[in-house]
Amino acid sequence: MKRVAILISGGGSNMVALADSMNGDHPARPVLVLSNDPEAAGLAKAAARGIPTAAVDHRPFGRDRAAFEAELLKPLLAAEPDVVCLAGFMRVLTPEFVEKFQGRMLNIHPSLLPKYPGLHTHERALAAGDAEAGCTVHEVTPDLDAGPILGQARVPVLPGDTPDTLAERVLVMEHRLYPAVLRRFAVGDRTPVYLP
Ligand code: GAR
Repeated sequence: MKRVAILISGGGSNMVALADSMNGDHPARPVLVLSNDPEAAGLAKAAARGIPTAAVDHRPFGRDRAAFEAELLKPLLAAEPDVVCLAGFMRVLTPEFVEKFQGRMLNIHPSLLPKYPGLHTHERALAAGDAEAGCTVHEVTPDLDAGPILGQARVPVLPGDTPDTLAERVLVMEHRLYPAVLRRFAVGDRTPVYLP
């Protein structure tokens, strides 16, 4: 059974989708939900599912990413994860941290990478007049949002879409895509998943 740690910063809807997918004959189980925000709503959702939780507030560390990450590593390493899933985790990680989990850390990003790495993806897709948007699950490498793609789901842009309405429809697909990718990844299958 593969051990999965999930890192969140907010509501944790992707974490919930991942956690709820890991049952029955699934090859993995959630062993930790970790947040950089002690108030993240996702922590209570994880606790309600019986998943161990931890939080390391990034704010006292200011710009000292290395010091923050040293604290973040403590509960993470103690959980002995085989796979680390970033799921709405909104802190940029240093190359040194990423290298510790090379080849076994995944992220979900709300755009069709390589388009729109970084923030405000839906605003940028709408401003560009794109006919479709979507989300990507990729392996995390030291370059932001640029690792090998493990899955993508496409969502049409509709007339009258705002960043919020588009985000809402993309999020529905995120909840399908990330569990589908994790299920494959947990058995060593990196063949990309394409939805729908
Ligand atoms: C999701 O849309 C995820 O793709 C995005 O944040 C949201 C988190 O929602 N992630 C990023 O923008 C990463 N840079 P959730 O907390 O409900 O899963």
